[in-house]
Amino acid sequence: MLIRSIKEMKQVVKKLKKEGKTIGFVPTMGYLHEGHRSLMRCSKKENQITVVSVFVNPIQFGEGEDLDRYPRDLERDLQVCREEGVDFLFHPKVEEMYPEGYSTYVVVEGLTEGLCGAFREGHFKGVSTVVAKLFNIVQPDRAYFGRKDYQQLIVIKRMVEDLNMDVEVVDCPIVREEDGLALSSRNKYLSPEERRSALSLSKALFRAKELFEAGERDAEKIKEEMRKIIKSYPEVKDIQYIEIVHPHTLKPKKKAEKGDVVALAVFIGNTRLIDNITL
Ligand code: PAJ
Repeated sequence: MLIRSIKEMKQVVKKLKKEGKTIGFVPTMGYLHEGHRSLMRCSKKENQITVVSVFVNPIQFGEGEDLDRYPRDLERDLQVCREEGVDFLFHPKVEEMYPEGYSTYVVVEGLTEGLCGAFREGHFKGVSTVVAKLFNIVQPDRAYFGRKDYQQLIVIKRMVEDLNMDVEVVDCPIVREEDGLALSSRNKYLSPEERRSALSLSKALFRAKELFEAGERDAEKIKEEMRKIIKSYPEVKDIQYIEIVHPHTLKPKKKAEKGDVVALAVFIGNTRLIDNITL
């Protein structure tokens, strides 16, 4: 079940392909939660074999970001994968993924300039590169991504299309706690007070949708009301961005339309959280 080398993963994939098995793939950075589990369940339904990767990808973290403190617990992740009936957990070593002399990167232009891309230099280059590598190793028929990281999903879809990769990218809905907070491995960083303030993101997004459904179309007005809501929570340190964007081009909109995505990034204490909703 646990595979720790690229060579072994490739051998297993080769055998599965020979047997004509379909492969579903769920790439993750581990510390698996209900959001990850939902992707595994989707994959299980649609494929004969499901592979989950757990790899905290150093090249998608910028300087001063949380690479060193990112939560890791392989034993627990293995347990989650067993519970979900995952066939293989691929957990490669950093040195094998990026050996000395490593020089090749995948860059998706345009789509990576706004939203998180504007604040996390090099982040999406790291994401597209590692996902391309993982696709080459696992050779999935389908790969499952959460809408929680909406920009990432769109960037990966673009990469797959542009590079003619034989993978169907499947997007899955955001899984939330009962009170609305989107699940994230980073929620572990939150103190009890911060956890309460983390609700500001979903509260603001739900309000945005409510306003839109009541007929409001002026993006600035919707965003202003969202800012007010978020700032009313004590542990909110900084609103990095609030945008209403076109769902495919990710271009900011002045006039909101059905299908647009409202996305935001907020610092709760030192923890940066993101979330979004589709109008
Ligand atoms: P990670 O943050 O571990 O997320 C792995 C996958 O789980 C992503 O597709 C993400 O969108 C999805 N996910 C996370 N929280 C979710 C939630 N609350 N509801 C639904 N889906 C959720 O995203 C990454 O890892 C990395 O960037 C990766 C793609 C693995 C590349 O390193």
